[in-house]
Amino acid sequence: MSTYPKIKVTPPGPKAREAVKKDERFISPSYGRFYPLVVESGKGCIVTDVDGNEYIDFNSGLVCLNVGHNHPKVIQAIKNQCDRFLHYSNTDFYYNEVLDAAEKLAEITPGNFDKKVYFGNSGAEAVEASVKIAKWHTRRQLFIGFISAFHGRTIGALSFTASKPTQKRYFFPLMPGVTHVPYPYCYRCPFKLTYPGCHYWCVDFIDEYVLQKYVPPEDTAAILIEPIQGEGGYVVPPPEYFQRLKKMADKYNLLLIDDEVQSGMGRTGKWFAIEHWGIEPDIVCTSKALASGMPLGATISNAKIMDWVPGSHASTFGGNPVSCVAALAVISVIKEEKLLDNATKQGAYIMKRLGEFKEQCDIVGDVRGKGLMIGMEIVEDKESKKPAPKKVTEIMMRSWKRGISVITCGASTIRVAPPLIITRELVDSALDIIEDVTKEVAKEA
Ligand SMILES: Cc1ncc(COP(=O)(O)O)c(C=O)c1O
Repeated sequence: MSTYPKIKVTPPGPKAREAVKKDERFISPSYGRFYPLVVESGKGCIVTDVDGNEYIDFNSGLVCLNVGHNHPKVIQAIKNQCDRFLHYSNTDFYYNEVLDAAEKLAEITPGNFDKKVYFGNSGAEAVEASVKIAKWHTRRQLFIGFISAFHGRTIGALSFTASKPTQKRYFFPLMPGVTHVPYPYCYRCPFKLTYPGCHYWCVDFIDEYVLQKYVPPEDTAAILIEPIQGEGGYVVPPPEYFQRLKKMADKYNLLLIDDEVQSGMGRTGKWFAIEHWGIEPDIVCTSKALASGMPLGATISNAKIMDWVPGSHASTFGGNPVSCVAALAVISVIKEEKLLDNATKQGAYIMKRLGEFKEQCDIVGDVRGKGLMIGMEIVEDKESKKPAPKKVTEIMMRSWKRGISVITCGASTIRVAPPLIITRELVDSALDIIEDVTKEVAKEA
């Protein structure tokens, strides 16, 4: 039996409440916090708050801590680098840390071709770079994006984001030329069809209706897609979706940009989630878990496509040496500790356990995922499948108060994304509590 979690005072405790007061006074009100967890420290899969409560981290610090909090090898690499140099603008000079990180990323990214890497500081910057690379290379201006997508909040990335109206309200006009199409969300098919009888109409629709009627393919640079929708609700496309999408993209010479900011770096039991479908995207964006919490974004492209010229894109801190050594340490820890295997193993166990729980609980509509990127969708009832945002919030809050830092995504989905180092013991402790509070909330309905 695991000794975690350990709740000493019902959160938020006095010190956490004090911090929240200060936050209200000084911090931008644009952040939308899940709950007042005020972090004091983290180790492995455990996060401790300022009042001494110890939680099982079931969200990996917003899916950034795949190797766990403060992995000793990551910390040592950062400390060593701090003793050497903190910065020397990769945009204007050279250093080996950025070259080594690029070499390793090229190795682990899908695609049997030469690759080049652009480094920025965040997921949004990785996406912005991919869009500019696609424009530069193709000299085309139009793009296909997806409904419920999340690609970040800078103006270019936001043009593709289509997850919640608050993300876009009052910020128009955005980058022109992005057309959003339905994502393959089989549990709630936007076309009200059923897989596999639908015969992948969601792909043919893009071809027959979008490209052939109002988005000329000759003017279209790329399709930008998440291999598993993250903020949109941990939505997993059906088995042949990406093979078909890629075939259609190739037919019209459109680039395929794969946004792996959330799903990459081993999260799904493969280095990149798109590998589950066996296709090779032209450009891959990654960030979040790449440097274990240090700011780093990478846009990895087929070398032939990344043909822009000096001055066409750069950012002072992109490829910071401290972040790059953290990324190198993350890659070697994932390999040495066989974390892809552990993600697959623990993920399969969680899928089985939650799958069985779904059968017994009236408000669990769907359980889906790959590796340790798993969504449990909460509904008002199984027949109507009506999303249940209040219920999912209640489940998240009660789980947190009992020591599980789990968060939501989409309209009403519990997002299960613990660090890839998670043990069966901690999984069981966390699921016992999540299932327990879900049953409570279901009873109160
Ligand atoms: C798939 C995806 N792309 C892009 C982003 C944006 O990343 P960032 O917040 O680092 O800008 C996110 C963030 O959640 C994401 O999930």
